[in-house]
Amino acid sequence: MKVLIIGSGAREHAIMHKLSLDPKVEVHAAPGNGGMAGLGPNHPVDVNDPDAIVSLAKEIGAGLVILGPEAPLVAGAVDALEAAGIAAFGPTKAAAQLEGSKIFSKEFMARHGIPTADFRVFGDPDEADRFIEEANRPLVVKADGLAAGKGVFVAKDAAEAKDAVDRIMRKREFGASGERILIEETLVGEEVSYHVISDGTRYLRMAPAQDHKRVFDGDQGPNTGGMGAYSPPPVVTPEVEEAIIQRVVEPTLRGMREEGVPFKGALFVGLMIVDGEPQVLEYNVRLGDPECESLMARMKGDVLPLFLGAARGDFGEFSPSWEAPAALCVVLASGGYPGEFEKGKPIEGIDEANQTEGVIVYHAGTRLEGDTIVTSGGRVLTVTAIGGNVDDAAARAYEAASKIRFDGVHYRKDIGHHARTR
Ligand code: AMP
Ligand code: GLY
Repeated sequence: MKVLIIGSGAREHAIMHKLSLDPKVEVHAAPGNGGMAGLGPNHPVDVNDPDAIVSLAKEIGAGLVILGPEAPLVAGAVDALEAAGIAAFGPTKAAAQLEGSKIFSKEFMARHGIPTADFRVFGDPDEADRFIEEANRPLVVKADGLAAGKGVFVAKDAAEAKDAVDRIMRKREFGASGERILIEETLVGEEVSYHVISDGTRYLRMAPAQDHKRVFDGDQGPNTGGMGAYSPPPVVTPEVEEAIIQRVVEPTLRGMREEGVPFKGALFVGLMIVDGEPQVLEYNVRLGDPECESLMARMKGDVLPLFLGAARGDFGEFSPSWEAPAALCVVLASGGYPGEFEKGKPIEGIDEANQTEGVIVYHAGTRLEGDTIVTSGGRVLTVTAIGGNVDDAAARAYEAASKIRFDGVHYRKDIGHHARTR
């Protein structure tokens, strides 16, 4: 079967690599990257254009299209593919609102009694300012729509919160995503990424994971798309996992069904574990990046039945199992990221890094220029290692990362710190 993977990040490289190990699968990517180009044809496409994705899928004769990032899902790519009779992994446009609108998702949680921070919605910046002044405590200010992970401001005081309102609503730094905002209470605890894959009726649990969103060691500096992840995080004890399933996952999937928008694809719940209790920070309607890289590295056997089963609405007998006890990945970023950065820097040492035992280097912002791999984005590579425990995986990932060189490279040295003893 021909499988077309839409996206150009390390998440999509990891999915493509895992699928490429299956002799029954011929992998294609669009638009792809410098690493995905080594696994199969990479086709140009505008990922925000559902019709372009359908045309490409038809041209290739794809039996399955996997939508990696949120943008094509929110734009309706799955609806368009299904209308054309092509199996697609991901939710419909209506179900993708769980990620596409933070206000939709908070109001959904409120309707279904799903634990989340108390919140208010504002369409008028002056009203938001008045609320902030009266509250006079730490608050979180969020743009309603998609903002590539940058529309959330964890404000320590009223001045910071008002500055966030100004940037989102008056300066419109995130365009139409800032027409309305959410202001939430601040939660304090440990963050966890929990994924299930649903076929619309049933769901399968993925192993729990933990991301590191801040750019610097010790969780300092601005938020990024994610600087590293690992699985499994010790904070997700069996009791905590059951609470996540009973109080969050099941009510969410049931609620979506009851509201006439059954959820198919990857439901990724971003959680804060507060004194052992899960609170939802946000929903995402796709796999996390870099969480997905850790999960693909740990997963046993073929992954096609997972994606195809979800897309067709029937997993059959398939259920995932986790061959490697742990996996950890470190994101190598361009100098300046998550702010401005330069592109086109030649990268050395990827082959040596890949030769480290248990290691695989997934590409994100890379492209092939002649025979040379050069940087082309903020997050450049995700160095991923499996191991007998998180310490082992970390030692391998960091040994491999030290072999890779490009001008300006930086990465966190403390990925997995909640789980590491060394
Ligand atoms: P979101 O995109 O909504 O997950 O927010 C991005 C990041 O902001 C999260 O990963 C958290 O680190 C932080 N955050 C979001 N909401 C809250 C909250 N209510 N309390 C504390 N931190 C939050
Ligand atoms: N790693 C967080 C995300 O994919 O949104």
